[in-house]
Amino acid sequence: MTRRLTVTRPDDWHLHLRDGEMMRAVLPFSAELYGRALVMPNLSPPVRTPADARAYRARIRAALPGGHPFQPLMTAYLSDDTDPAGLAQGFAEGLFHAVKLYPAGATTNSRAGVTDFERVHRAIEVMERIDMPLSVHGEVVDSSVDIFDREAVFVETVLDPLRRRFPGLRVVLEHVTTREAVDYVREAAAGLAATITPHHLAIDRNALFEGGLRPHMYCLPVAKRASHRRALRAAAVSGDSRFFLGTDSAPHPRSAKESDCGCAGIFNAPNALACVATVFDEEGALQALEAFTAHSGADFYRMPRNADSIVLEEALGSAPQPEAVAAGGESVRIFAPPAAPGWKVVEGLRPLGRPPARDDTIPEA
Ligand code: NCD
Ligand code: ZN
Repeated sequence: MTRRLTVTRPDDWHLHLRDGEMMRAVLPFSAELYGRALVMPNLSPPVRTPADARAYRARIRAALPGGHPFQPLMTAYLSDDTDPAGLAQGFAEGLFHAVKLYPAGATTNSRAGVTDFERVHRAIEVMERIDMPLSVHGEVVDSSVDIFDREAVFVETVLDPLRRRFPGLRVVLEHVTTREAVDYVREAAAGLAATITPHHLAIDRNALFEGGLRPHMYCLPVAKRASHRRALRAAAVSGDSRFFLGTDSAPHPRSAKESDCGCAGIFNAPNALACVATVFDEEGALQALEAFTAHSGADFYRMPRNADSIVLEEALGSAPQPEAVAAGGESVRIFAPPAAPGWKVVEGLRPLGRPPARDDTIPEA
C-alpha cells in the first residue's frame, strides 16, 4: 500500500528569494508549500534597515496573489556600521525576525558583511537585551584555512567566544555541514540552534566531482565528507528541537554557475521537502519529520506552529523531475539529488493562481 503522511505545514527558516524577475520565478515554489520563510537579506545592495526590509517585503507580497497566506519573515544584514536602534525598531514592530551575520567575503553578496567583530558588539549587546536572534553564516574567511575546515574553525574561534561574551544571545548556526558544528550545538546549554539543508543531508563532497566538475552541487558551506553527512542526518532525525529545516535554496542563473568562477548556491525550492522526507524515510525516522520541518523552527523563533497540514505520499516509480525553471531570459537548475525523491506533496499546496514557468527543455548536463 502506498504510504501517506500528514504533517503540519512546514516553514523554511533560511531562504534566498532574490528580487525582481528571479524572485517572481522562484517565489511560487516556496509560497505554495511553506507557511513562512525566513528571507535572507543578501541582496545587492543588502537589506540593512527597516525601510529596506519593508520595501523588500512589499515587493515579495506584490508578487503573490492578494490574500495568499505565505508569510515572508524579514532579516537584517549586519554590517560594521549597522545602527543598533534600527535593529531594535524593526524587531519591535514585528518586521525583523533575526539579524544575519555574514563574515565579510564568506559567500555570495557578503562583501558588506562584518569585517571586525569588535565593531558589531554594540549591536549584538542590544540584540541580547531585546532577545533578537542572530543568524550566523559560520565560516571563517581566512584563505589560509582549508575550505573544508572553515566551519569547524569558525565554531571554535568565533562562535564560541561570541557566545561566552553574550551568554543570553540566541543564535542560529545556519546550514551546518560538519560533525563539529552538530556536536557544538548539542553541547550548548541553551540559546543555540542550527538549520540543516536538504542538499547537505542528501550529498557529500563526492557529488561535486561525480564524473567531472559539478557546479550545481557547489554551495557554501561546501558539502563535506560522508562521515559529516552522517552526523547531520543523525541530528536532523533525532527529534532534538535545536535542529530544524532551512533549505538555503539559493538560485543563480545557469550562466553564473557554469562559469570560470561559478557562484555558490543550490536552488532546491521545488524539491526540498521531498528530498528531506526521502532522507527521513531512509533513516527510518518519518515520525520525526514533522518536528524538523514544522515544529522546532517555529518554537525557536517563538511563533505559533502552522495551524494547517499537508499530505505527503510515497512516490512509487520515478516520475520525471523538472530540471530547471525559467527566470527572465535565464534558466536556473533545480537541485538534482543522487536518487529521485521517494516522496511527493499531494495535498495542501496553495498554488499562486498561475503555474510557475518551468523550462524543461534544457538537456541533461
Ligand atoms: C547563498 C547565496 O547564493 O545567496 N549561497 C550559498 O552557497 N549558500 C549564500 C549563503 O547562504 O551562503
Ligand atoms: Zn543561505
